[in-house]
Amino acid sequence: MKKTLVITLAAVGATGALGQQPQTPPAGRLLASNCFQCHGTDGKGSGTFERLAGKSSNEIYNELREMKAENKRGEIMTIHAVGYTDVQLRAIADYFARQR
Ligand code: HEC
Repeated sequence: MKKTLVITLAAVGATGALGQQPQTPPAGRLLASNCFQCHGTDGKGSGTFERLAGKSSNEIYNELREMKAENKRGEIMTIHAVGYTDVQLRAIADYFARQR
């Protein structure tokens, strides 16, 4: 019984490996995942903090750049904004803009 189960799982694994390209996350998702805890998975809102999904990339990017420039100590978003390069902020903004 136990043996059968192992073989079945192995077969499923093999089919998956043959049938798919190696899984790489969509561009920007790894960086953006840092924001999911507060802004919801894929930025789709958590009921508490602002929804980011579907806002324009420029809007998100400019807000983040502003927070970074203002560098207000103790503000939650400042901690995040200053932690990324501008290129990374753009990748994050692009990712959220692509979500619906
Ligand atoms: C610990 C919770 C937390 C995390 C993690 C977090 N945020 Fe925020 N975010 C907030 C809060 C709270 C606000 C609103 C208050 C403020 O502006 O400081 C906010 C506001 C924003 C705004 C402005 C929204 C608007 O329309 O005014 C943007 C854009 C934003 N966050 C993007 C991000 C991005 C991108 C990340 C990941 C790099 C991130 N946030 C991670 C809590 C968080």
